[in-house]
Amino acid sequence: MCFYESMRVKLLWPVPVVLLILAVGCETEPYKQGRWLYEEYCGNCHMENGSGLAGLIPPLAGADYLARENLRTACIIRYGLEDTIVVNGQTYAQPMAGIGQLNEVEITNIINYINQAWGNDLGYVSLESVKNQLQSCRPSR
Ligand code: HEC
Repeated sequence: MCFYESMRVKLLWPVPVVLLILAVGCETEPYKQGRWLYEEYCGNCHMENGSGLAGLIPPLAGADYLARENLRTACIIRYGLEDTIVVNGQTYAQPMAGIGQLNEVEITNIINYINQAWGNDLGYVSLESVKNQLQSCRPSR
């Protein structure tokens, strides 16, 4: 009797745990895609921990530039950046090439990943706002 009771408890407790894991898994799906895409398309240069590469590639973790220019991030990802910029007091002048193959959803997910990763707390952007941004910086021909 006792043995049977404890068996039942053992068999039952994983159910809520599994449901919880599934629920959390769904909610973080865009963040996970953002992270995966970041590691695929940005991590080589900006490093997986967002630290950048001293003097050559600016950081994204704790970067004052990213915080200040957050509404330009989509344009930077799609069209690149060729400027002399100061990030956290250090000057960077290497150009970044645009990454044309990322669609608007993917760009949104990457921004929402870097805005929250590594201790960053820069809020969320909507797909709508990324679309508007990309309209405004589309190169005219
Ligand atoms: C080939 C290397 C390389 C790759 C790949 C790359 N970047 Fe950059 N990124 C740079 C460099 C170099 C700069 C500085 C550009 C300048 O000075 O004009 C920069 C600048 C930036 C900036 C503005 C500066 C800052 O630190 O806030 C952001 C934001 C950014 N990159 C995000 C990304 C994201 C997101 C990806 C991936 C989708 C990415 N970059 C991929 C090299 C790279």
